[in-house]
Amino acid sequence: MTSIEKPNNLLVDLHVKYIQSLDTKKDDLEYWFTEHLRLSGVYWGLTALDLLKNVNTLNREDVVKYVVSCQHDNGGFSGHIGHDPHLTHTLYAVQILVIEDALDSVNTEKIVEYVKSRQDPQTGAFTGDEWEEIDTRFSYCAISCLSLLKRLDAIDVKKAIEFIMLCKNFDGGFGNTPGAESHAGQIFCCVGALAIVNSLHLIDADLLSWWLCERQLKNGGLNGRPEKLEDICYSWWVLSALSILGRLHWINKEKLIEFILAAQDPESGGFADRPGDMVDIFHTLFGIAGLSLLGYPDLKSVDPVYCLPKYVVQRIGLAEKYHI
Ligand code: FPP
Ligand code: ZN
Repeated sequence: MTSIEKPNNLLVDLHVKYIQSLDTKKDDLEYWFTEHLRLSGVYWGLTALDLLKNVNTLNREDVVKYVVSCQHDNGGFSGHIGHDPHLTHTLYAVQILVIEDALDSVNTEKIVEYVKSRQDPQTGAFTGDEWEEIDTRFSYCAISCLSLLKRLDAIDVKKAIEFIMLCKNFDGGFGNTPGAESHAGQIFCCVGALAIVNSLHLIDADLLSWWLCERQLKNGGLNGRPEKLEDICYSWWVLSALSILGRLHWINKEKLIEFILAAQDPESGGFADRPGDMVDIFHTLFGIAGLSLLGYPDLKSVDPVYCLPKYVVQRIGLAEKYHI
């Protein structure tokens, strides 16, 4: 793609068509390769559509029926029917049901039990599934999920915070485990989780925000760690954290908007990880959500903590619960 052809405005109709088309690509090999990510795809696609003011493009009844079919006897959800349950997919299921206002379609008490069972009572850390891998992203999934269900009382929040704080580094950032290098994805998880449990005072906001705004490269895009390539999804991981910390104005918004818009496919819709690459639904959500945080016109506002449309978070009465 030459620079002349790079889109410089948001191609709303094309993105809606692109997301809609994903549902009908059942003959595509790619559809089967990504089967384990089907529930995630619904969360990414539905949230993107809602921010684009097109939430009804996906049939509510079909969406809810599909999510319900991914719940297991232990309360957790898997990425697709018949796969193993995982904490990340359990969060995505709850987020979809909150958007569709359909939490009453599933057994929420079982979800709470499942999330609770993933916490190690000694360290406060969470494992994603039975393979016992520990990661701050799972701390976020557990805290966000239980907050959406208004059941944070089910876990040891104090211990959960202690574990997250063990993952804080000298540069102000957070890694996936204690001692691991700072990474913008993990920073979103830790800052978001701490925001939900009203513990942002534990963060050195200036130090961390400097690290975050140093992620902006000359071409306007953001990377996730020093020396890495820019990537559209970091428009979300970095910006959401800066937004929660009240320092979104520390980056060059115009250059970032230009970079995000250039990563759109001007023919078939969707966003790629960077201009000129193949589009996918993951980067499509984070391109749109990033633009929403930047105040781009004609998009609904996104909540930087829950990665859900703000009106959804307001509807369930959570918007006033944390201070950002
Ligand atoms: C980068 O991953 C992203 C992360 C580490 C954060 C992932 C966060 C979750 C799964 C929590 C749920 C998220 C939302 C928005 C509700 P990567 O593997 O792409 O990193 P890389 O760029 O280093 O490869
Ligand atoms: Zn990416």
